[in-house]
Amino acid sequence: MTGEGGPRRILLLGKFGQLGWELNRTLAPLGEVIALDYPEVDLSKPEQARQVVRDAQPQLIVNATAYTAVDRAEVESDVASAVNALTPAVLAQEALASKAVLIHYSTDYVFDGKQNHPYVETDTPHPLGAYGQSKLEGERNIQQVGGNYLILRTSWVYSLRRDSFVTKVLGWARQQTDLRVVDDQISNPTWARMLAEATSLLLARASGDWLDWLHERAGLYHLAGSGFTSRLDWARAILLNDPRPAEQLTRRILPAATADFPTPAQRPLFSALNCDRFTNTFDLRLPNWEQALKLAMAELP
Ligand SMILES: NC(=O)c1ccc[n+]([C@@H]2O[C@H](COP(=O)([O-])OP(=O)(O)OC[C@H]3O[C@@H](n4cnc5c(N)ncnc54)[C@H](OP(=O)(O)O)[C@@H]3O)[C@@H](O)[C@H]2O)c1
Repeated sequence: MTGEGGPRRILLLGKFGQLGWELNRTLAPLGEVIALDYPEVDLSKPEQARQVVRDAQPQLIVNATAYTAVDRAEVESDVASAVNALTPAVLAQEALASKAVLIHYSTDYVFDGKQNHPYVETDTPHPLGAYGQSKLEGERNIQQVGGNYLILRTSWVYSLRRDSFVTKVLGWARQQTDLRVVDDQISNPTWARMLAEATSLLLARASGDWLDWLHERAGLYHLAGSGFTSRLDWARAILLNDPRPAEQLTRRILPAATADFPTPAQRPLFSALNCDRFTNTFDLRLPNWEQALKLAMAELP
């Protein structure tokens, strides 16, 4: 961290998540990282979040926690709302009161996916399900509190160490000769590692008084892998980068429609994010999704 008085103490919430795991590593050079996750802290209880911040006294709070079970959120909307909307409000209040910075993540699922070109930050959200609704409320709660916050909306996050679309496709390819994958859901695949790297790099870019620097740039940004694709073409790329292709049983990969796989929660069809605002502000971008996938999958044994 350049500049005077960068964050000596960083509170990272969600250290076992796809993104939180990577942040725990990329934030380390910036300051002392106090990293927590469930069950050490239950962020469906906003008052626990308040106490955790007061105990840690951080200059920077990075919230990688989320209730991300999109379908289960339809029946557990209270829990989803507590984790995704009420707790972020408390984190923003505590950050404001102690002049700390809050970095929070949101989702492309705040959009209904009816557009045919990538969404920008000023496009009107219209979530189709309880998860997207709770994440949108979280954004709005933080914005209402104000202060030094960055909300980074991202999309189709994957990692190789937790269940993700990438690990699922590799698993299906070892069980099924014909793979049917939807070709009408389109967005930006985002490797959790790259999202964490960009978060830490933007903090390292801060010059002068880092609080003032971030205050001038506070707001909502889209940040996802460059370029966009369909789930079908993403699955094809995953199979091409499989380091153990001999284990694949799949012989044909066939297009399907989202309507062929009914789920409790409706997903947006076209939810690609335009990340120009982030790039223009921080002079950083996430690499093209295919390059990032290649790098991610090169780590597989
Ligand atoms: N995954 C995606 O495709 C995607 C797409 C767009 C945006 N995002 C956003 O990106 C951010 C990071 O997502 P991710 O994929 O890294 O999520 P993730 O892997 O599901 O990680 C979320 C973390 O939050 C923890 N958590 C959930 N409920 C909690 C609670 N009540 N108390 C304490 N911790 C709790 C989880 O613990 P458990 O594992 O024990 O539940 C997990 O460690 C989130 O804001 C998410 O909304 C994700």
